[in-house]
Amino acid sequence: MNQGKRVGIVGAGNVGATVAYSLAMLGSCHEIILRDNKIDVAKGKALDMSQAASAVRSHTIVTVADDMSDLTNCDVIVVTAGSPRLPGMSRDDLLMINAKITKEVIEGVAKYSPDAIVIMVSNPLDAMTYVALKESGFERSRVIGMAGILDSSRMASFIQEKLGYGGGQIRASVMGGHGDDMVPLPRYSTVAGVPLEDLLTPSEISEIVARTRSGGAEIVSHLKTGSAYYAPAKSTAIMVEAILRDTKQIHPCAVYLEGEYGYSNVVSGVPVMLGANGAEKIIEVTLDDTERAMFKNSCNSVSSLIDTLNRNNFFKGE
Ligand code: LAC
Repeated sequence: MNQGKRVGIVGAGNVGATVAYSLAMLGSCHEIILRDNKIDVAKGKALDMSQAASAVRSHTIVTVADDMSDLTNCDVIVVTAGSPRLPGMSRDDLLMINAKITKEVIEGVAKYSPDAIVIMVSNPLDAMTYVALKESGFERSRVIGMAGILDSSRMASFIQEKLGYGGGQIRASVMGGHGDDMVPLPRYSTVAGVPLEDLLTPSEISEIVARTRSGGAEIVSHLKTGSAYYAPAKSTAIMVEAILRDTKQIHPCAVYLEGEYGYSNVVSGVPVMLGANGAEKIIEVTLDDTERAMFKNSCNSVSSLIDTLNRNNFFKGE
C-alpha cells in the first residue's frame, strides 16, 4: 500500500530529521527526501535513517535533495526550515526572519511539487501557514499547519501527570493559534470518555491549561539551545500518515478560515478531517461565551502578526 509515495522535508534539523525518522519507521511512504543547507549533515542523517529502516524491514528509503529543484512530485512536503526559539524568545520574535525563509521555500515547492500538500511546522506557526498559503497560491485544503496535535498531546500528558492514571485514555482538546493565547478546552477533554471536570477541581484544571499554554517554553527553558522536537515531530508524522493513508480522521490543525467560527483571512487551529486531499473538512465545534472570547483573542494575535507582515510589504502584489 502507498508504494511510490514521496514525502519531502525541508529543514533537516531536530524537528525535520525526527519527522523523517518517525515516518521511516512507519514505512508508509516509499521515499523521504531531506532538503537542508547543511547538505553533508543531511546526507549523514539520510544514510543513518535508511539503515534504521532496513533494521525494521521498512521499505522506506531516505535521500537528500541538493536543492529545491530535486524536490519533485512530492505527495506531501513538510516545512520545518527556520530559526528555532531560543530562551527568552517568543514564537512571534521569529516572524520576519522565518517569513522570508518560508517564502523562498514555498516558491520552490509550488514550482517543483505543484500538487503537494504542504504541512507547515516553522514558527510562528499560524502566520507561517498564512505566508505559505499566500505564496503558494494553493487551495487552502493543501496548506495545513501542525500545532493542535502537539498542544493537545501536551495537555493530555499534563492531565495524566495530575491524575496519576488514565494514560493512553486521555483525549485533550486545544484550539486556536499556536501561541501563548492558544485555547485549551477542558470541556472537550475526557479520560476514557469521562469529562475532565468530573475528575479534577477547577483550580487543577486551570493549572493544566496554564502549563499547556507554556508547554513549549517549559522545554526551551530546559534545553537552552533550542526547542522541543520529539512531540512536534511525532505530531507532524501523524498528519502525514493521515494524508498518505487517506484516513479521514479528525485532528486539530491550523488552517485558513473562510467564515468558519466567524473569522476570515486568518489561520487558526480547529478540528479538521485529514485525507488524501489534505484538510478535507473543517469541523465547527460549539463554543460557550468564554471559549469564544479566548478563540477571538487568539485569532486577533495571529491577525496582528499578519498585519505586521502587511505593514512591511511582505506579500508580493499587495
Ligand atoms: C513548541 C515550539 C517549538 O511548542 O513552538 O515546542
